[in-house]
Amino acid sequence: MHGLFVTGTDTGCGKTEISLGLMAAVQTTGAKVLGMKPVASGCVRGPDGLRNDDAVRLRAQGSSEAPYGLVNPYAFAPPIAPHIAAGEAGIEIRLPTIEQAYRALAGEADQVIVEGVGGWRVPLGPNLFVSDIPGALGLPVILVVGMKLGCINHALLTVESIQNTGGVLLGWVANQVDPTMLSRDANLATLAALIDAPCLGVLPWLEAPTPSELAGYLHPELTDLQPRHAAKLATIQTRTETRSETRTGKRRA
Ligand SMILES: Nc1ncnc2c1ncn2[C@@H]1O[C@H](COP(=O)(O)OP(=O)(O)OP(=O)(O)O)[C@@H](O)[C@H]1O
Ligand SMILES: [Mg+2]
Repeated sequence: MHGLFVTGTDTGCGKTEISLGLMAAVQTTGAKVLGMKPVASGCVRGPDGLRNDDAVRLRAQGSSEAPYGLVNPYAFAPPIAPHIAAGEAGIEIRLPTIEQAYRALAGEADQVIVEGVGGWRVPLGPNLFVSDIPGALGLPVILVVGMKLGCINHALLTVESIQNTGGVLLGWVANQVDPTMLSRDANLATLAALIDAPCLGVLPWLEAPTPSELAGYLHPELTDLQPRHAAKLATIQTRTETRSETRTGKRRA
């Protein structure tokens, strides 16, 4: 196990900021960390090819200089849904390519923080969703809840979907993207009561968030969850295997 997959309730909920904060938090322990944004739309063409701002920031926060193509193997210019951007570019987004890039990064670091694109059920192609990535990489998931009106519904639907699609939800982080949000604490209490996973950080709206400032609001356990990840994943994997054996057995019978 070499990291975490960061998903969110929506685009713009704070996944990049929280990923950078997580990287900074891990770096305070002396561990080497790299960031990854496997799929990005909204890229700008420069002398070295397409570049995405999230991927550039995650790469810059890394403990060593990783090749851009490993940090962001799929980069598309238009700021549109990734499966549409990929279709327009005539490119098929493939899990093995993402896995290969991830393994190369994981070989150079103690942890890789992988930022998703948009929310959990964003399509990446006809038969591929963002929700397929963490399972393929063997990574547990952190859900960033962008605190604003409507976030409870988005958060609960996302949690349900993570559970139904076999994701391992380590916990959630509340991130105040709307500085004027009313009744924030009551919303937080509702989320805490209804989400069956720990709250691992409550981030206020910050004037100019920096990774190390963000890290200060994250639960210290987030930098040291490896044994617990492994135990939890092992249980889930065993359950999945048992389920698929049962299904296969039924089909054979
Ligand atoms: N706690 C915060 N305080 C102030 N600004 C924030 C906070 N969290 C996020 N922002 C700002 O909100 C915007 C969206 O955040 P961010 O880019 O991290 O979202 P995202 O989920 O990664 O979006 P995308 O789906 O585009 O990847 C950015 O301008 C970011 O700086
Ligand atoms: Mg982002």
